[in-house]
Parts: sequence; structure tokens; C-alpha cells
Amino acid sequence: MVSLRSHLVTLLLLQVILLLSHPVKSDDEDKRLLQDINSYRATLNLSALTENDNADCLAGEMADQFKNQPCTNSTGANTVPGTEMQLANYPDLLNHCHLNVSNTRDGVIMPACVPDLVPSLVLANFTGSQYSSYLNDSKYTGAGISSEGDWIVVILTTNTPEGSYATYKSASVVPKAGMLFHLFSLFLGLFLALIS
Ligand SMILES: *[C@@H]1O[C@H](CO)[C@@H](O)[C@H](O)[C@H]1NC(C)=O
Ligand SMILES: *[C@@H]1O[C@H](CO)[C@@H](O)[C@H](O)[C@H]1NC(C)=O
Ligand SMILES: *[C@@H]1O[C@H](CO)[C@@H](O)[C@H](O)[C@H]1NC(C)=O
Ligand SMILES: *[C@@H]1O[C@H](CO)[C@@H](O)[C@H](O)[C@H]1NC(C)=O
Ligand SMILES: *[C@@H]1O[C@H](CO)[C@@H](O)[C@H](O)[C@H]1NC(C)=O
Repeated sequence: MVSLRSHLVTLLLLQVILLLSHPVKSDDEDKRLLQDINSYRATLNLSALTENDNADCLAGEMADQFKNQPCTNSTGANTVPGTEMQLANYPDLLNHCHLNVSNTRDGVIMPACVPDLVPSLVLANFTGSQYSSYLNDSKYTGAGISSEGDWIVVILTTNTPEGSYATYKSASVVPKAGMLFHLFSLFLGLFLALIS
């Protein structure tokens, strides 16, 4: 019984470690950039961009692709609306977020790399480059932003079907389900440890 109990305690500890090490998305840079972009748009009398969760998802997938590349490698890191990203697995990334190219083609994907993602430099990378033509455009109404390493990816969405980033199936429940699973097994572990 003692050994079973110590096994359960080990299992419990493992769950706690898993729960704590569960990749907690660091959204700070992302939220900060959205605020900064909206302040920039306010000075141009343009509407604030609203957060688009599905574009967030794709931005996350894209940032994940870029994160191990040095900042100097900007291959595939420039894009214009209507053209697809120069990434061989772009269809898989779309699919992962339950997105279809017919609902994303009018959006624009803008990756940038800034060492340590210093907020003022990040904003300047968008407002001080050719990307500003998209930020200055009233046709964009939403945004998805995600960062990994030194890379940050901004996706602008429109309120038309072709740029809405509407999914064909809800994608946002997946990470939550993963978290719930860890929580559930944590409580199960606690319960078993207590009754043994
Ligand atoms: C924004 O709107 C204000 C008030 O309507 C106006 O004074 C200002 O010139 C406008 N700015 C731009 C950049 O259009
Ligand atoms: C640069 O980016 C391209 C396209 O994403 C990739 O194929 C290549 O491996 C990268 N090079 C380096 C040195 O990371
Ligand atoms: C994408 O949407 C178009 C039009 O709604 C549809 O014909 C096509 O089958 C869809 N593709 C996928 C992979 O869902
Ligand atoms: C973007 O960030 C890099 C790295 O900090 C910097 O060298 C470059 O000047 C920035 N570009 C713009 C347009 O601000
Ligand atoms: C976007 O607007 C800013 C502020 O008016 C301006 O400095 C910049 O040149 C514009 N960008 C483009 C591509 O027109």
C-alpha cells in the first residue's frame, strides 16, 4: 500500500509539473502590439482592429515556423494580399486552424523579426515599412497577432467573407481541452492519493 501511495504521489507531482510546464502562451507582446497598432490607426482616424481568434491561431502557426530562423533570414517573410505564404506547409497550417483559403485570401500576413521584440521597435517595423500601407487601410477590421522567439506575426482580416478568417469548424476549443485534461487528471491523482 505504501508503494502504491508513493507511486500515486509521484504521478501527482508529474501532473503538477505537466500543468505548470504546459506552454502558457505569452500574449503580452501580442496584446501590446495590437494596442499600439490601434493607437496608430486612431491618429489616422481609422477604426480599431478587433481581435480575431482564428487569425490568432494562424499567426501562432506561422510564428512557430519562423521561430528558429535568424532575424536575417527574411525569406518568405514578406507577403502581399492575394499571394500565399512561401511556406510549403501553408495548407497544413491553415488546416490546423480549420481555415480555408477561400476565407483567408483577402487577409494579409505580416511577419517581422525584432531581437527581444522590443515594443517600440516592433511597432516601427510595421508602421515604418511597406506594411504601413495595410495598417493605413480602412478595409481591414480585425487582427490576429502571435509571437515566438524574436518573431511576431500580424494577420489583418476584413469583414468580407474572403477575408473573415471564419472557420469551417471551431478550432479554439483544442488548447482548452488539453488544459482541462491536465486539471482533470490532477484532481483524479489527488483523489486517488487521498483514498489510498
Ligand atoms: C481626424 O479627424 C479629426 C476630427 O474630425 C480631424 O481634425 C483630423 O484632421 C483627422 N485626421 C486625419 C489624419 O485625417
Ligand atoms: C530561411 O528561410 C527559408 C524559408 O522559410 C528556409 O527554407 C531556410 O531554411 C531558412 N534558412 C535559415 C538559415 O534558417
Ligand atoms: C473551402 O471552401 C470552398 C468554398 O466554400 C469549398 O468549395 C472547399 O471545398 C473548401 N475546402 C476545404 C478544404 O474545406
Ligand atoms: C525592424 O527591426 C530591426 C531590428 O530591430 C531594425 O534593424 C529595423 O530598422 C526595423 N525596421 C523598421 C522599418 O523599423
Ligand atoms: C501610412 O500613413 C502614415 C501616416 O500618415 C504615412 O507616414 C505612411 O507613409 C503611410 N504609408 C503608406 C504606405 O502610404
